[in-house]
Amino acid sequence: MQTIKRLVELREAVDALKNGGKSVALVPTMGALHEGHLTLVREAARRADHVIASIFVNPRQFGPSEDLDAYPRRLAADAALLEAKGVAVLWAPTVDQMYPDGYATNISVSGVSEVAWGAARPGQFDGVAKVVCKLFQQVRPDLALFGEKDWQQLAVIRRMARDLDLTWPHADAIIGVPTVREASGLAMSSRNQYLTQAERDQAAGLAAAMRRAIAAIEGGADVAASLASLEADILAAGFLSVDYADLRDAATLEELTTFTGQAARLLVAARIGGARLIDNMGLGLN
Ligand code: PAF
Repeated sequence: MQTIKRLVELREAVDALKNGGKSVALVPTMGALHEGHLTLVREAARRADHVIASIFVNPRQFGPSEDLDAYPRRLAADAALLEAKGVAVLWAPTVDQMYPDGYATNISVSGVSEVAWGAARPGQFDGVAKVVCKLFQQVRPDLALFGEKDWQQLAVIRRMARDLDLTWPHADAIIGVPTVREASGLAMSSRNQYLTQAERDQAAGLAAAMRRAIAAIEGGADVAASLASLEADILAAGFLSVDYADLRDAATLEELTTFTGQAARLLVAARIGGARLIDNMGLGLN
């Protein structure tokens, strides 16, 4: 595996990999890799001739009071994991390579970026859209894989790819990979390491509460009443607060007040200990 930090070298490596019509899949990450990321890599390897993974802790998607400085960085250990999975190139640009002096371009995906997680963090998904668009231009992948754990992020990236007519990759080649969960049901996340063991045990109650709410809604229960019970269940499991527990259209993320079997997503963010956890699950035509 080549670890590359400069764009000019990346371009040469990508050209070499694509030689002879070979396909390339991109797995973008911010590092601190866990089984969820490695599942993306395995799926990428199944779908393409070569896998390029990126590790870049993107300063433009952290708010002023968020954990940019504390965000775990362990490039050497991550590189070893990726190499063992057969990744061809690790693209690990510096902040200067990604945002050189004078960088001035923004990408803002309205609607889908502005609800749920994005509502309290204006600009965060602009930061995601910007860096992902740049990664796409830099790597020119045939396909790119993202975890469904960050469902809103996936919806924003798909919307951006459609709106900008991206071809590397085409919107249809942006693949969502189902969330990887611990045996307890807790969705894997780099931020789970901020939890104590006791908080981790309590956090498992989130997925269980969401499954109960989904069963109720799919069984015909009133959506608002089911979401209110869900919030109460999450607090009873030991969470300190619930930021949101919403039923939304799976693609547009418009709020749904009734459920008629359409592709929908239950999106939740809740705070436990020092961490804010997000999770989502599909209903209907997902
Ligand atoms: O999901 C992530 O790790 C990041 O948001 C991404 C897609 C790598 C962009 O920085």
